[in-house]
Amino acid sequence: MFNNNRIRIAMQKTGRLSSDSIKLLTSCGIKINLKQQKLIAFAENMPIDAMLVRDDDIPGLVMDGVVDLGIVGENVLEEERLNRISQNSEHSYVTLTRLDFGICRLSLAVPVNTTYTHINSLKNIRIATSYPHLLKKYLDKKNISFKSCMLNGSVEVAPRAGLADAICDLVSTGATLEANGLREVQVVYRSRACLISKNGDINTDKKEVINKLMTRIKGVIKARE
Ligand code: PRP
Ligand code: ZN
Ligand code: MG
Repeated sequence: MFNNNRIRIAMQKTGRLSSDSIKLLTSCGIKINLKQQKLIAFAENMPIDAMLVRDDDIPGLVMDGVVDLGIVGENVLEEERLNRISQNSEHSYVTLTRLDFGICRLSLAVPVNTTYTHINSLKNIRIATSYPHLLKKYLDKKNISFKSCMLNGSVEVAPRAGLADAICDLVSTGATLEANGLREVQVVYRSRACLISKNGDINTDKKEVINKLMTRIKGVIKARE
């Protein structure tokens, strides 16, 4: 079905990391054929195939060894790692390098008219999030009990809709919080995009291509510092 000697790299199809991920590979001199928006885009001049998928699927594809490499946000990666630990399933991977884009933070935010003095103000409230494991790890460490409301999207409207008292969601510019009358009160996790590889055996030919790619990525990042 697939040519086994080609590196498969999973990247976000659409979203905050997609254009920067493609730009990175392009800057590395990899000519990817993106003419049609397909699941797989083949590079013309290197044995590399890009798999364009949902960002949430990237950690699992790498941990299951379905793809060799992935470009993903550390927020999504760490959430899936904690999720798999809780389910006793495969959760290993190797970080090859952190990247210079996708910089954001996972933060707790409350409606602007709410009194917030200390993290204890969050005790026993209901928090809407798409990152239940990262949130629980953070609040457990601080000994704060809470109720969660799992939402895969539209997290920022949850307080207004009466679904939750606070949210825990990604913040980059802060525009979404502001537009929804929310105030950031606590940073839970700082994140950026990273390049990861599957754990375990990768054949010598593939390793050579990965090393070549790594040298170029480091050069590109250095050049735009
Ligand atoms: C995140 C988050 C907010 C927005 C915050 O969503 O859920 O909606 O970005 O960014 P800002 O601070 O610059 O306004 P994202 O675009 O990653 O997509 P998703 O929620 O669909 O996964
Ligand atoms: Zn997503
Ligand atoms: Mg969003």
